[in-house]
Amino acid sequence: MRVKYLGRKGELTNVLRSLKNLSLAERKKTGLEANALKKALENLFDEKIKKLQTRNYKLETRKLDITHPGTKIHRGHFHPLTKVEENVRRIFASMNFSVVDGPEVETEHYNFDALNIPANHPARDMWDTFWLRQNEVKSQKSKVKSSDRLLMRTHTSPVQIRYMESHNPPFQIIVPGRVFRYEAIDAGHEINFHQLEGLMVGPNINLSNFKFVVEEFFKKFFSAKGGSALGGKGEKVQFRYRPSYFPFVEPGLEVDIKFKNKSLEVMGAGMVHRKVFEAVRYNPNTMRGFAFGMGLDRLAMIKYSIPDIRLFYSGDLRFIKQF
Ligand code: PHE
Repeated sequence: MRVKYLGRKGELTNVLRSLKNLSLAERKKTGLEANALKKALENLFDEKIKKLQTRNYKLETRKLDITHPGTKIHRGHFHPLTKVEENVRRIFASMNFSVVDGPEVETEHYNFDALNIPANHPARDMWDTFWLRQNEVKSQKSKVKSSDRLLMRTHTSPVQIRYMESHNPPFQIIVPGRVFRYEAIDAGHEINFHQLEGLMVGPNINLSNFKFVVEEFFKKFFSAKGGSALGGKGEKVQFRYRPSYFPFVEPGLEVDIKFKNKSLEVMGAGMVHRKVFEAVRYNPNTMRGFAFGMGLDRLAMIKYSIPDIRLFYSGDLRFIKQF
């Protein structure tokens, strides 16, 4: 339309061009009218174009195909291990457990001695340890006591000691945290992984309390949102308790979960050893407690059917994005 009327060969342009053939009086009159018309047309064109460009006009006139697939928005999200930890925290919080933290660099005292694993005790072989060289040097120079030697904690159990030293029973805590072991890496082993420690202490705590708490936890965990390889809500989780040995508990046991005729070991546990109570100056004759420790990576692997622990730490987005 603009070209037709206002273009170089447009109809109105022709009128303006032919003004010179008219008499002075006619030229004046026609010229005024033609120019006014030109202005008016230009304004109308401008207005129309503005309107065509507004969002509302587009929305009103465009046909909306509601079957057309939307544009996928990529949102950031938490790492599967973070999600599992959060899930576990929430379940224990609902049973009135407090969440406690502890250092990843520990002393030999907290990681071993106070947990009834003295130097040269054969049970130390259960935890292949990263010792910190820095401290070896220091201990030679200033003769630091051997129990003050530094290491990367091999389990979250040292936090049991730290907590009991500064709190009085009764209490119940969990300790999620990163632990380190000097091991060969394969699909089931990492040198750094995550554990969850549990500790409940009071005058009358016994193994039945432990059984209740642990079974309650696993039932909730495996039926929580997101489902699991063990099946959805209502699916029965079966438990098996096997006698086992850890120097800081007596009796010691391991908990297996059974599914698809396969038993999976998920947790070490037991009643807190009197030597441990003695180390934190509790009276071992009047105090009772249970403790447990489990691998969070392991738990996540079972829940989501993840075949290889190394995937958690690979930084491979193809893996991470599935959660
Ligand atoms: N700390 C033990 C481990 O890392 C697990 C455990 C914790 C066992 C508490 C018994 C009681 O293997």
